[in-house]
Amino acid sequence: MKKNTVRRFAEMKRSGERISMLTGYDYMWGSLLDEAGIDIILVGDSLGNVVLGFDTTCPVTMDDMIRHTAAVSRGVKNGFVLGDMPFLSANLGVYEAVKNAGRFVAEGGANGVKLEGGAGAAPVIGAIVEAGIPVCAHIGLRPQSVNIQGYVTQGVSEESAEQLRKDALAVEKAGAFAVVLEKVEPGLAGEITRMLSIPTIGIGSGPSCDGQVLVVHDMLGVYEKVPPFVKKYADLRKIILGAAEEYNREVKQGVFPEEKDADNKQTL
Ligand code: KIV
Repeated sequence: MKKNTVRRFAEMKRSGERISMLTGYDYMWGSLLDEAGIDIILVGDSLGNVVLGFDTTCPVTMDDMIRHTAAVSRGVKNGFVLGDMPFLSANLGVYEAVKNAGRFVAEGGANGVKLEGGAGAAPVIGAIVEAGIPVCAHIGLRPQSVNIQGYVTQGVSEESAEQLRKDALAVEKAGAFAVVLEKVEPGLAGEITRMLSIPTIGIGSGPSCDGQVLVVHDMLGVYEKVPPFVKKYADLRKIILGAAEEYNREVKQGVFPEEKDADNKQTL
C-alpha cells in the first residue's frame, strides 16, 4: 500500500470512493488504525475530552497536540496523519497560525492540519497552504466555539444554512483539500457535498458526505455516554472491565501468577 496524499483524496472525490477518517491519540491508535487501512488518522483535539478528561476541547494546548501527534505519526505508515489545531492556535494572526501549523509537520510528523473555521478563516487557510501544509477546514458545529454554538445541529434555519454554504465555498477557494462538516443538517450536508469539488467528511451529518469521521473511543464503546449519531462497532468498555476485574480477582486470590507464568528463564 502507498502513503495517502491530498492528490489521492481529490481522486477519491472524483471517482466517488468514500474516505474513512478516525481519531487516534498515540502510538497504539496510530499503528492499529493504520493496519486497519483507515485513510486519515485525525489527532483530534477531542484528546481533551476522551484522553485528558476535560469537559470541552478548549484547555488543550499546542504542546499537548504536538506530543500526541508525534506519537501517532510513529505508528503510521500509509495513513494520512492530520493534526488538529487547538483552541486559539489559528486565531491570533496569520503569522502565529502558520508557525503553529508548521510545528505539526516539523515536530509532530503530521501530513496536514485541520482547523475550525469558515469564511473568516480563509486568509489563514490560504497562508498555511502557501507554506506547503495541506489544510482540512472544519465547519458546522465547531466544538471550540461551544460557548457560542452549544452542541446543536447547524444549518437548520435558512440564515445559518446560507452562512454554511458561504463558509464551504470560501474554504475551498482558500485552498483547503477537504472540509469536515460536523452536525450539519443532513440535506444541507448533501447539497454542500455536491456543490464542492473538494471532499466533505461528515460527522453527525448524514450519509451523503464524501467520507465519515468518528471519535475512536465513541465507536469502540469505551465510554457509556456517546453522541446519538455514533454507531458502536464494539463494546470495549465491557471487554476492558471484564479483563481488569478478572485480573484483580486472580491477583487477590493468588491464582495469577502460577509457577509456569513465572518462568524467568524465558526472554520476551
Ligand atoms: O477533535 C476531533 O475529534 C474532531 C472530530 C470530531 C472531527 O474534530
